[in-house]
Amino acid sequence: MGKGFKTAAILLIVALFAAIVSACGNKNGSGGGGKVSVGIVLPTKDETRWLQDEERFKAALKDTKYSTEILFSQGSSAKEKENVETLINKGIKVLIICPFDGNAAAAAVESAKKEGITVISYDRLITNTDAVDYYVTFDSISVGAAQAQYLVDHSKGGGQPLYLYAGAASDNNAFLFFEGAWNVLQPKIADGSFKIANSSEAEALKGKAKLSREEMSKIIGQVTTNWDPNEAKNKAQTHLTAAAADMKGDVLVLAPNDGTARSIADVFHSDGAITSAVITGQDAEKATGQYIIDGKQSMTVFKDVRTLVKDAIGMAVDILDGKKPQTTGEYDNGQIKVPSKQTPVITVDKDNIKKELVESGYYQAGDFQGL
Ligand code: BGC
Repeated sequence: MGKGFKTAAILLIVALFAAIVSACGNKNGSGGGGKVSVGIVLPTKDETRWLQDEERFKAALKDTKYSTEILFSQGSSAKEKENVETLINKGIKVLIICPFDGNAAAAAVESAKKEGITVISYDRLITNTDAVDYYVTFDSISVGAAQAQYLVDHSKGGGQPLYLYAGAASDNNAFLFFEGAWNVLQPKIADGSFKIANSSEAEALKGKAKLSREEMSKIIGQVTTNWDPNEAKNKAQTHLTAAAADMKGDVLVLAPNDGTARSIADVFHSDGAITSAVITGQDAEKATGQYIIDGKQSMTVFKDVRTLVKDAIGMAVDILDGKKPQTTGEYDNGQIKVPSKQTPVITVDKDNIKKELVESGYYQAGDFQGL
């Protein structure tokens, strides 16, 4: 064998080896068709909550030895299914997925399950399928309860007007949030301390302490924001236009999350007949931090996404290492009881925002003005 040929052969082997290594080491969503161990699918970039999750996932994944990729479904179940197929083709062993629509996502995770992939439902439960292995979530019933408790604690009583808003009916969490809130609000509505301003369905059910899913569907169908700030704004405008004088003055507003709360707050504060409005939210979004400091939104429920991300990755790594992940409870998804790990939430308003959101390192003091 000639010397030139030998050198060429060695170069070829080196090049091949480099190609294999680079294909295997496709870390943190660089794309390019390589092997991926953990696939992460998030519902949309349009609801700002999920940008928090992306950022926190990226920060947490810097230290894992496993390759990962994050894909967004842009509010489409078809795109979500396509994302899952893409990740299956990249050889994922674990799928962490927050569904856009909890029911529609069943088909996507069933195809992952067929390939022997372990499925972790993230924040939102995937419903009516047995193809979900684990669920990592915040305590969503207590999110709604915390919002409602804040309204109770800051109410003036005496038949104070209460405006109800809810999340998207395609999201199982919207039901959990509403259930938690109803548990706390219903006795106050029933005893006349609060009067419902904008939902005939809720008014018709005000005597019932526990609502069925169908009953909640009726109310949510009427006051849904679909998690869309524009829809929330339009609904709030319609409600205030229709409201009689006795439904104005000092009011209470159950707003389901920060994105919708800020637009609802803008509408309520621009109505001259509203003298004060206690307005809830959730997610501790940066923009809401400023609204709370400025007195435009009253509170938010802080769901520390760092913890949820840590739990989801911890679970994925356990699975990849052949260990059984630890769980703390279970959630019924309509077909099976899904083993779950749940994280508590914290009520934040102007009194503790500095401690909870800045001193905890979640945000920087410089992110806010007038803190
Ligand atoms: C999440 C909330 C979020 C909402 C809209 C819910 O499933 O739990 O944190 O605000 O979806 O994206």
